Amino acid sequence: MPEPETIWIIGASEGIGAALARDWAQRGARVILSARSQDRLDVLAAELGSVHIPLALDVSDRSSINEAAVRISKIGALDRIVHLAAIYDPGKIADLDPEKAMQIVTTNLTGSFHVAQVGPTLLKDGGQLALCGSVAGYIGLPQGQIYSATKAGVINLAESLRAELSGRVDVRLINPGFVDTRLTQRNDFRMPAMVTPQRAATAIIDGLCSRRFEVHFPRRLTWGLKLLSALPYWAAMPLTKRLTQ
Ligand SMILES: NC(=O)c1ccc[n+]([C@@H]2O[C@H](COP(=O)([O-])OP(=O)(O)OC[C@H]3O[C@@H](n4cnc5c(N)ncnc54)[C@H](OP(=O)(O)O)[C@@H]3O)[C@@H](O)[C@H]2O)c1
Repeated sequence: MPEPETIWIIGASEGIGAALARDWAQRGARVILSARSQDRLDVLAAELGSVHIPLALDVSDRSSINEAAVRISKIGALDRIVHLAAIYDPGKIADLDPEKAMQIVTTNLTGSFHVAQVGPTLLKDGGQLALCGSVAGYIGLPQGQIYSATKAGVINLAESLRAELSGRVDVRLINPGFVDTRLTQRNDFRMPAMVTPQRAATAIIDGLCSRRFEVHFPRRLTWGLKLLSALPYWAAMPLTKRLTQ
C-alpha cells in the first residue's frame, strides 16, 4: 500500500479549495487546510477528521507564510501544494477603489510569488506545486479589471517556474472557467458553462494526477477562450469587445 499523501491546500476554507479538501480527504490524503479564517478551517478539519490540520495564514503577509512553513516542516515533507487563495472585486477599472486594487495584487500575485518561493522547500523531491490562474488571465476582456491582470501574472509565473524548477518540482497551472462560489456569486453578467465546486475539484484532481502542465476546465469554455487568445490582436479585439455588449 502506498503511503497516504500529505497535501497543503491554501484557500481551503471556501469554494473550490474546500471542495478539493473534502474530495482528497475522501481519497485518503492527509490535508493541511489554510486560509485566513481560523474558525472556518477548524469546522472543516473537524468535519474531515482528526488527521487533517487547520493552519491559518494570510498569503499577502510573508511573515505569516514563513511561520506556517516552520510548522509544516515539523509535520514532514509534502507531496503536493495547491495554492488557490485569491480575492476578487467585480467592476470597471474606473470604479475600483485603489486600496482594494492593491490588496488584490498583493493577495493574488504577490501571494503566489510567496508560495512559489517558500513552497518548494517544503516538498518531497519531485513533489507538486500547483498555482491557480484563471481563464480571465488568457486575454484582457472588457470589465476584466485588476483581478484578470493578476491572473495573467500568475499564469506567467507558473510558466517560468515550470522551466526553472524542472526535474526538482512538478509545477502545475490550474485555469478554471466559471465555478459557482462566493467569488462568482458577485457577478451580474451571464456566466457560460458554470460548474459546481465539486465538479471543479474532480477536474483538478484528475488533472493534477495526469502529466499535463495546465489543468483547464470546463473544456467547452476554455478551448474557445484559448482560441480567442491565440488570434492576432486585430482579429481578437473586435470579438472581445462584443463579449460584454
Ligand atoms: N470561482 C470561479 O469561477 C473561478 C474561476 C477562475 C479561477 N478561480 C480561482 O480559483 C481560486 C479559488 O476561488 P474560489 O472561487 O473558490 O473563491 P472563494 O470561494 O472566494 O475562496 C477563496 C479562498 O481563498 C482564501 N483567501 C482569500 N484571501 C486570502 C489570503 N489573503 N490569505 C489566505 N487565504 C485567502 C479564502 O479564505 P479566507 O477568506 O478565509 O481567507 C478562501 O478559502 C482562486 O484563485 C480564484 O481566482 C475561480
